[in-house]
Amino acid sequence: MLRHIISMRDFSRDEIDDILTKARDFETIAKGEKSVLLSGKILATLFYEPSTRTRLSFETAMKRLGGEVIDLGATETSSVAKGESLADTIRVIGNYADAIVLRHPREGSARMAAEYSNVPIINAGDGAGHHPTQTLLDLYTIMRESSLSSLRIALVGDLKYGRTVHSLAYALSLYHANVILVSPAQLRMPDVIKKDLKKQGASISETTSIEDVIGGIDVLYVTRIQKERFPDPAEYLKVAGSYRVTEELLKKASDKLIVMHPLPRLEEIDPSVDKTKYARYFQQSFYGVPVRMALLAMAMGAI
Ligand code: NCD
Repeated sequence: MLRHIISMRDFSRDEIDDILTKARDFETIAKGEKSVLLSGKILATLFYEPSTRTRLSFETAMKRLGGEVIDLGATETSSVAKGESLADTIRVIGNYADAIVLRHPREGSARMAAEYSNVPIINAGDGAGHHPTQTLLDLYTIMRESSLSSLRIALVGDLKYGRTVHSLAYALSLYHANVILVSPAQLRMPDVIKKDLKKQGASISETTSIEDVIGGIDVLYVTRIQKERFPDPAEYLKVAGSYRVTEELLKKASDKLIVMHPLPRLEEIDPSVDKTKYARYFQQSFYGVPVRMALLAMAMGAI
């Protein structure tokens, strides 16, 4: 069966647990052990928005599993610049590759692409919508570096436009986590998402201050304010730099706290935090490789 990865809603809790278990087996290959699991397979990467980690970790995952990668490149150098529709591009690339990783600025684009694709579509971010592969690596990081049971987690920053937190909040509801949403008033999690989370039985609360919650959480998940999604640059300036996690702030944290961030970071985590025992964001970016290996192997029918 053709299995696309569009949103965390496409997965049950058991399926997520299965992916996280499989990812664990790929860690040694992610570190360089030889594998030919995906030899003869081709992955296409289509990024209509900037990316460093997502594109390169998919590429590394594919290559370390013995597969190959074709990349659309910058949209200015492909037929996208001539006005080709996403639907046509997807139909054509499905003839060249065994799976397609797609990042696109329009919400809903990955779901639409899946309708035209004869190979699995993996959503690597659709506007402010979803980012399911990031969520799976976030859950994996929590599993490896903390614990997914009885989890108390604060999601901090741009909860309005941040797709990573939209996907993650939903997945956390499947783990019955205690989720605290920390954002400026203008960047609160959209009501429609909160309502949906509550329907899942999620335990969520909201505040504007990290200081209020730092002492009682296991994970501090910090996000960048998504400048590129603000219709009005003046509105961005009002909230830019709203939060800054510093060593000083972390003095109030529990000993076992871990600090995560999907990256790239701007001002929201002070570089002095990098060397503290709390920092896990660079380790988190490594975990993207074994998790994406598991997803590619599953999408291509190899496991
Ligand atoms: C995130 C994204 O693209 O949504 N980056 C990523 O994939 N690691 C977060 C961001 O851009 O702020």
